Amino acid sequence: MSTVIALYTGTGNSLYAAKRIAEKTGEDTVLRFTEDFLSGACELPAGTDRLGIIFPVYFGGVPYPVRRFIREYLASRDNSDLGYVFVIATHGGSPLYALADADRELQDAGIALSYASSVRMPDGYLPLMKKAIPPEKAEAIRVKADVKLAAAADDIAGERIHLPRRGPGWRIIRGISAKMKPGENSKLKLSQSCTGCGVCASICPEGNITMENGRPVMGSSCVSCFACYHRCPVNAIEYKGAAGQYKGFVDTGELRRR
Ligand SMILES: Cc1cc2nc3c(=O)[nH]c(=O)nc-3n(C[C@H](O)[C@H](O)[C@H](O)COP(=O)(O)O)c2cc1C
Repeated sequence: MSTVIALYTGTGNSLYAAKRIAEKTGEDTVLRFTEDFLSGACELPAGTDRLGIIFPVYFGGVPYPVRRFIREYLASRDNSDLGYVFVIATHGGSPLYALADADRELQDAGIALSYASSVRMPDGYLPLMKKAIPPEKAEAIRVKADVKLAAAADDIAGERIHLPRRGPGWRIIRGISAKMKPGENSKLKLSQSCTGCGVCASICPEGNITMENGRPVMGSSCVSCFACYHRCPVNAIEYKGAAGQYKGFVDTGELRRR
């Protein structure tokens, strides 16, 4: 049984979830960032029979980079080897229709979903969470998340079937989420304390931060994941009205893309 987990993460919660699932799906489980498939840096090996997609909920649905992964990468390949496909969504309060949204995206790509589950993780979305979640509160949420992730991992290891439901308003929520595309985030600003270490550029999932003359420069394809804000080692990235950082449960080095 060969399992590939395609993963999109900003602040690291979805990587944490993917690692917990991979502990149970076996030693041959491979974790890869969704953007690596899109850039051609990796391929889904022929003969992969189990595929997992793990991502954060964005605006009640699937984040734009994961939509692209399904629409542009998965939809263009022969997926007939995939016998078991699962999705896990991490969220800050409510997954809304993210699982049903993923199901629909996969259906449109000709792929049948087998299993879907969601798990609450600490939220670092700055427009809502003006103050970073205190570490002890984050830890309490992680302890509960571990229980849910262990149950999902058992389900997946046993190839159980569990499909998401759609409820009232699901089309509207899906429509809103699907419209959310990368853009400029003018509220993220660099402070004088930036040391030019380049961590932000190395972990930005969209490659939206480049180092120019030793200073990070933000481009116009920000997905507002806030990884740069939370993971800056000297807290040099400011967001209007926000204070504190959420450091998550994976090392910043594990988020490094480039
Ligand atoms: C742009 C954006 C939109 C979000 N929308 C939702 C949402 O609709 N519902 C929710 O419960 N959490 C929402 N969140 C919170 C994330 O889903 C949650 O923090 C997730 O665990 C982050 O995963 P990551 O660390 O892998 O990026 C949002 C976060 C971001 C950055």
